[in-house]
Amino acid sequence: MKILVLNGPNLNRLGRREPEVYGNTTLDALHEHLIQYGKTLGYEVDCQQSNIEGELINTIHEAEDKFHYIVLNPGAFTHYSYAIRDAIASVTTPVIEVHISHVYTRERFRHTSVIAPVCIGQITGFGVHSYDLALQAIGHIGDSERMK
Ligand code: DQA
Repeated sequence: MKILVLNGPNLNRLGRREPEVYGNTTLDALHEHLIQYGKTLGYEVDCQQSNIEGELINTIHEAEDKFHYIVLNPGAFTHYSYAIRDAIASVTTPVIEVHISHVYTRERFRHTSVIAPVCIGQITGFGVHSYDLALQAIGHIGDSERMK
């Protein structure tokens, strides 16, 4: 199983950016951790980041033929990028939206996600552990069907 972890704008600043909100882990350390953690779950994890909306859109399009799932932190694009929303809707690859901070306890503009309705789920507020939870969740997709 191949999984793309895709981080959006300003997440390259992780570890230095508002550490009281986003913590001290750098993006490189997070990506390295996710590759290793993914291996323990039997996944091949690839990690990418871009500050540019169009690059994120191209990456989502190209992921359709390369990955089984996308774990996406769209950064501030979460709150207003209809173009990223439409890119997700245009591919068959399931997307899980993740956030490091708890967006619903923060400024009001962060309470809206235009991305969530086209994702299979959203994980928010567990620090960088949110990404681990997304990888774990992928292993449980279909469980609720099996419980019926
Ligand atoms: C974020 C939350 C967004 O509101 C913010 O713009 C980010 C990071 C998070 O991971 O908590 O850039 O997506």
